[in-house]
Order: sequence, then C-alpha cells, then structure tokens
Amino acid sequence: MEKIAVIGAGTMGNGIAHVFIQKGFKVNLIDTQAAALEKAISTIEKNMDRQISKGVITNEEKLAALSNLSTYTSIETGVPAADLVIEAATENSTIKESIFTQIDQCAKPTAIIASNTSSISIAQLAAATQRPEKVIGMHFMNPVPVMKLVEIINCNATDPEVTEAIVALTKKINKVPCVVKDFPGFIANRILMPMINEAIIAYSEGVSDVETIDQIMKLGMAHPMGPLQLADYIGLDVCKSILDIMYKGFGNTKYSPCPLLVSMVEEGKLGVKTGAGFYKY
Ligand code: CAA
Repeated sequence: MEKIAVIGAGTMGNGIAHVFIQKGFKVNLIDTQAAALEKAISTIEKNMDRQISKGVITNEEKLAALSNLSTYTSIETGVPAADLVIEAATENSTIKESIFTQIDQCAKPTAIIASNTSSISIAQLAAATQRPEKVIGMHFMNPVPVMKLVEIINCNATDPEVTEAIVALTKKINKVPCVVKDFPGFIANRILMPMINEAIIAYSEGVSDVETIDQIMKLGMAHPMGPLQLADYIGLDVCKSILDIMYKGFGNTKYSPCPLLVSMVEEGKLGVKTGAGFYKY
C-alpha cells in the first residue's frame, strides 16, 4: 500500500494525512471545500512546527512530508489512484453512506475502503458498496499525531486478509492496532462515553463543580484530561451523537445522554469549537 486517499480535511482528516505523509506515504487529501483544504495544510504545518520545536522531526523532514501531500476537491479526481481510502467526513450516517457509494464507484477494484467513524456501524457503510469484504473501520484518536491507538473494526463481511493488511499498515505508521468487532460504540467509545455522561450527570446533580470533577479523575486516575474537559475537546454534539447510537443500538437506557448534555447541544455550547462548553475558550 503506497497511496492513500483521505476524505474530509477536518481535525481527524488532517491528522490522518499528517501521520501518513510523515511516514513517506503519498496522500491525496479530499474535501469539497477548497478553504477546508487550505486550513488543513496550515494546521499540518503548524503541528509539524510544534514537532520541530520539540526535536521530534527536522525542517527537512517536514518539507519532505509536505511534498507527499496533494489536495483535491472531488472523490472522482482524488480517489482512483489510491490503494486505501480513509473516509473521515462528518459523523452522519446518510452522508457517510453516500460517500462510500461514490468511493466504491471511483476506487480501484483492489482498493480497501476504511472509515474513521467513532460509532456508525461498519456493516451499514459496507452495504453502501459493492465490495463489503474490503470495508473496515480505522478509528484514530484525536490528536492523531500524538495518540498511539487505532481501533480497527471488522464487520462480518470484512475479509481477514484486509484486516491483516490494515493491522500491518497501522504498525508501519508507528501506531498500535487494536482489533474489535462491529458493535455500537465499538470498545473505545463504549467505555469512554458512559464515563463522560456520568461526569455530566454528577455535575448536574450538584455533587461537585466542573473543575473538581475533572481534578478527581486527573489526579485520582492519572487521566491526562478530566472527563468534562475531554467532552469539550471531543465536542459535546459528538458525545451526544455517540451516546444516541449506543442507546438505540443496545436499547439500554444506561447509554441515554444526560439531559444537561442534550440542552447544552441544543444551546450550541459544543465545547472548544464554539468557544464554550463546560469551560470557556
Ligand atoms: N500534533 C502534533 N503534536 C501534538 C499535537 C498535535 N495536534 N497536540 C499535542 N502535541 C504534542 C505536543 O507537542 C507534546 O509533545 P511532547 O510530549 O513531545 O512535548 C505532546 O503532544 C503533549 O502536548 P502539550 O504539552 O501541548 O499538552 P498536554 O501535555 O496537555 O497534552 C494532549 C495534550 C495530548 C491532548 C493530552 O491532554 C491528552 O492526551 N488528552 C487526552 C486526549 C484523548 O483522550 N484523546 C482521545 C479523545 S476520544 C477520540 O478521539 C475518539 C472519539 O471517537 C471521540
């Protein structure tokens, strides 16, 4: 696998492109919005400058990595050359299904199609293609250049050789593959989101204030961020949508998003990206 296409130039898409170009892969970054592509390039440059200042890479390595990156505004032009297409578009199943159908029509017959979805069923996305055996989940964590995990999700149709190839590729980019089955929330969010939801419930019950709840989990459990700060960082809308998928998928009220989370999303308090959530930014 030499050439990767990444669909979506947002936070996850630009992070995924960053790690692949740094490891010498040619990446076609695709977004319908030219402005999003420009922003992605400047984000990648900024994050690489941060790595230079920490002595992780040199300026020459940054320039070599950036020369591996090409940008496109359509799937039709950016996908045909790719051996692997990683979809990192907005977390909406209708949009993702339509993107999967388009990718399937434009990609080489041998190409693998992966989704960076945090909770949408891989089987559902595979069903939007004529190659379900070549569809798999590759769930990266934010910030992608820093976090070691890639949660790899097999659906029933995924060919074991495809899983093997993706596991090997994940190791090549210096990340750790963890293979799981296609169940609501997979593993990462099935365990993370109930913790975040419980922190919001405890806060809404007045058990403690935001800072104290976060401090308890940081100091007591050695988490780098407390659950409320992490919720702001992930996006409260994303947290709610993952909980909704698990609530629906398992039919179990323990995954039902806390009323305070629902009302904050309705008010547009989505965390870092809107300037306010549990904290102000
Ligand atoms: N690109 C490159 N490097 C970056 C970076 C980026 N975007 N962001 C941070 N870094 C690097 C820094 O340069 C620094 O490097 P050194 O260790 O070499 O000095 C290191 O990461 C730590 O960064 P900072 O010193 O700036 O800040 P910090 O120590 O507070 O760490 C953090 C920041 C890495 C984000 C840390 O707070 C953390 O790990 N938070 C939890 C993140 C987490 O849980 N992510 C998963 C979210 S869930 C998800 O993504 C999936 C989902 O489906 C919802």
